[in-house]
Amino acid sequence: APMMLGSLLFGYLCGSIPFGLILTRMAGLGDVRKIGSGNIGATNVLRTGNKKLAAATLLADALKGTVAVLVARQVLGMEAALIAGLGAFLGHLYPVWLKFKGGKGVATYLGVLLGLAPLIVLVFAAVWLGMAKLFRYSSLAALAAAVAVPVALYLYGRPEVGSLFVVMSLITILKHHENIRRLISGTESRIGDKG
Ligand code: G3P
Repeated sequence: APMMLGSLLFGYLCGSIPFGLILTRMAGLGDVRKIGSGNIGATNVLRTGNKKLAAATLLADALKGTVAVLVARQVLGMEAALIAGLGAFLGHLYPVWLKFKGGKGVATYLGVLLGLAPLIVLVFAAVWLGMAKLFRYSSLAALAAAVAVPVALYLYGRPEVGSLFVVMSLITILKHHENIRRLISGTESRIGDKG
């Protein structure tokens, strides 16, 4: 049990690094929480107009989840890897450094998936990109991917990873409540619109 608590804490610390905030600040673009949706994720960094910075945010917020999973698996095994993945995801959503006001978790979800079931990243990518191309809403694309990934994990024969992703999907969907409200009222901003 102490090992599992250690994995959760290690994952949490990895996940709690708010790369979107750090990178936009370092680029001299101010506080990303003051523009667009106010979120610290890659989608909102894109609203600064800096595509490379948005891509870097996506990559870094994803890889912190991958690193947490891979290190925990190497040191303690598969069960620890699942717990570190959950920790990283929760760290991104509730970082102690930002008074627990973090992001919505999509990039970190993707990074944890890369560490645990890399082939299913293709399902995430296909659904996200397809939905984004069709509707041009980052949030809607993420919501669709969050439904598809757990289903794909069960079908693929990874029920233990599937269960973790059911939990993470539910949390990320709840974290998109404002986006869902805007999607319904037709006021959600589209990919490429400035914040
Ligand atoms: O990854 C978060 C995305 O789904 C929504 O971001 O900034 O439009 O709330 P945002």
